[in-house]
Parts: sequence; C-alpha cells; structure tokens
Amino acid sequence: MKRRAQSMRELSQIMSSTFDAELTTRSIQNFSPRSTDIIITPFGKCGTTWTQQIFHTLRTRGDMDFDDISRVVPWIETSGSLGLDINAEQVANPRGFKSHLSFDRIPKGCKYINVIRDPLDAAYSSFKFMEGWYLEPGAVSPDDFVSQSLKRGDYYHHFISWWPQRNNKNVLYLVYEDMKKYLSSNIKKISKFAEIELDDDLLAITEKHSSFSFMTDFKDRFDDAMLRKQSEEKVLPSGSDSSKVRAGQVGAYDFKNETIAAFSDKWREVVTPVTGFDTYEALTLSLIHN
Ligand code: A3P
Repeated sequence: MKRRAQSMRELSQIMSSTFDAELTTRSIQNFSPRSTDIIITPFGKCGTTWTQQIFHTLRTRGDMDFDDISRVVPWIETSGSLGLDINAEQVANPRGFKSHLSFDRIPKGCKYINVIRDPLDAAYSSFKFMEGWYLEPGAVSPDDFVSQSLKRGDYYHHFISWWPQRNNKNVLYLVYEDMKKYLSSNIKKISKFAEIELDDDLLAITEKHSSFSFMTDFKDRFDDAMLRKQSEEKVLPSGSDSSKVRAGQVGAYDFKNETIAAFSDKWREVVTPVTGFDTYEALTLSLIHN
C-alpha cells in the first residue's frame, strides 16, 4: 500500500526508489550549454523557485501560462526522469534552467545565478517541504529530519563550492535575506546580468509576479507539479500538500538548541576555513549592498 514515510529510514527507502542517480548523471551529461544560458543554482530551499519566477517574468513580461515553473525554466538534473528535452528552445530567450549542483559539477560555459540563505532557514524549509509530501506529517521531528543531511554537510559543500565564484563575471551571487528587503534592486541586478532590457512597466510587473502574495495565489505552479505527479504514480498516496511558497520568513525555524549549535559547529568546521567568516550573518554583511 502506498504511504508517506513514517521514519527517516522509510524516507530514504522511498526516496531511493523514486530518484535514479544514473538517470540524473545522464541528464546532466546530456545538457548542451550555450554561453547565453542562465542557470539558477541555489542550494535547495534558498530561493530557487523565486529566482526562476523573477527570471521568467523578466524575459516574457509576465507569462503565467505554465503548470509548473520548471516546465518553462527546466531543472537539469530531473529532465531525464521527467522525459523533458533539456536542449529544446524555450518560450523566450535567454534560455533558463534550474540546478542544485555544486560548482564543481555544474555544466560549464553558461551564466549562473546563485542565491545563498541562512542554513537554518533553508534546513527548516526543506523539512516543511517534505512533510506532507514524502513524509507523513508529525511522524519525524525537524531535528531528526535535518540531522543526516547536516552530518553529510550537503548545504556546506555546495556553499563553499560557489563562494570562490562570487566575483566571477559569469556568476551573479545573491542573498535571500537581501532579496526580501530590496526586491526591486535585486530584480534590476538579475535583468542586467541576463541582458534583458528593463523599463518601468517591466519592473512593476516583475515586482508583482515575484511578490510572496502573488506567488502564494499561484502556489500550485511553484510546487514541483511534474515531480509530484510522478511520485504519486510511483510510490506515494495522492493528495500531498506541501509548498515551495510557504512562509518566506527569516529566522522562523523551530529547532532544539542542540540542533542550532550543531549547525554553528558545522559552519565553523567547513565554511569558516574557506571564507574567514564565523557566521552566516557576518558573511552576508560583507556582501549585502556592496
Ligand atoms: P520557506 O519554506 O522558509 O517559506 P526553493 O525554491 O529554493 O526550494 O526555496 C523555497 C523557499 O523560498 C521557501 O521558504 C519559500 O517560501 C521561499 N520563497 C518562495 N517564493 C518566495 C517569495 N516570493 N518571497 C520570499 N520567499 C519566497
């Protein structure tokens, strides 16, 4: 009988039966990059979908004619599994893609928009996203949920791989918390980087279409609809309910103190030696509005 995972062990069993690592590798290898392509590359839950929507609005002046934002700004790693032609022309130029790959694995020769976000907010967001989809609500605590990925250090390895690229002319390096405070100036940065001419009307359309309230009104289009359908056909019961446009807050996580301390330790172990910054806050202060 299909059911959502009730433990971390069951979660990894269900996930491994849906995600095919070989197919993911083939999808990445199959991608033919163009120098004008824009790949949106944040770690998961750091503002990927939001940036896809900003980018797609800019290049189309507000197209909402899609069932899943990743149909029009496709996710490279899942393209094989979803049967999408990743090399096809898109509804508008430049072509845009999503990827969660670290810099060492990302296909080279394109332009990249990376967004960073506080690791605690990103981890909590990831828990909330899985709860109600792959995970039975209430079955696993947020602390248990994040402990394995924290041990593996997935977020941190992605982070240190992109950090040295922050001044690369083909990389636009943005900060989620800054996007929340100064949406309009971040939209301007994205349009300039993607070489999309911006006028007052287009700025107003993009501010509206990427606002939290607008995206909440259309949240079914920002919810991995294609992957969700596939997961429900294969292993999960239908009617999953979780969202990629959820709370959009800063510092609204609910973890035990030990978990928060473990995140700080991991930062100091992996990120501080590479960046020189002891905390995420100190690091972002060095970047914001420079
Ligand atoms: P929360 O779960 O903390 O609310 P990703 O797209 O990389 O998976 O990131 C998802 C996170 O981005 C979610 O965080 C979601 O709410 C937030 N997000 C999506 N659209 C947003 C918007 N327009 N403004 C602010 N945050 C947004």
